[in-house]
Amino acid sequence: MIRLMNTADVASVVEIEKLVQSHPWTPKQFDEAVTGYQSTVIEVRGQVVGFCILQPVLDEANLLLMAIHPSQQGQGLGYRLLEESIAMLKNNPVQIFLEVRESNTSAIRLYEKSDFHQIDLRKNYYPKPDGTREHAIIMVRACSDDFSQLFK
Ligand SMILES: CC(C)(COP(=O)(O)OP(=O)(O)OC[C@H]1O[C@@H](n2cnc3c(N)ncnc32)[C@H](O)[C@@H]1OP(=O)(O)O)[C@@H](O)C(=O)NCCC(=O)NCCS
Repeated sequence: MIRLMNTADVASVVEIEKLVQSHPWTPKQFDEAVTGYQSTVIEVRGQVVGFCILQPVLDEANLLLMAIHPSQQGQGLGYRLLEESIAMLKNNPVQIFLEVRESNTSAIRLYEKSDFHQIDLRKNYYPKPDGTREHAIIMVRACSDDFSQLFK
């Protein structure tokens, strides 16, 4: 089941985030995301196992963060969560942007499956745990037919 995140979900979401991110968001950031953005969770047998945070901006949106609990990855949950969360956006965006670490191949494959295309590279954008940095890949998904033609 996919539904909007509420403050009671934040503890579970923070746990998942800590398991998958080297620089995790804080509980305060997730609390703010509940009210400030469109934040969704996916449940399996009543347990929150993933989340997705989308920021609507005028007629566009930014995918800020998403994750699936490591024990539940590779079963199609991330794809379902992403597609349904995009469908839930109330501003009906013409395009959706995201940034992803160049080394994060599983996320990049998921985004490509969801019709995102690389449009840019931001050099040395993300810090790495070893003190070095890595590039960010900028991707976009066109949500209207007019824009879709541009990326074909
Ligand atoms: C990225 C992430 C959300 C994917 O969630 P998931 O539930 O495992 O993904 P799904 O099972 O729905 O897979 C969807 C597609 O993603 C790709 N994918 C997922 N895991 C992959 C892996 N380990 N290797 C390669 N491709 C992978 C595949 O294209 C897959 O489609 P397919 O099964 O038809 O081949 C999950 O791996 C995760 O939480 N990672 C850590 C957090 C993160 O990196 N978030 C994104 C950046 S903010």
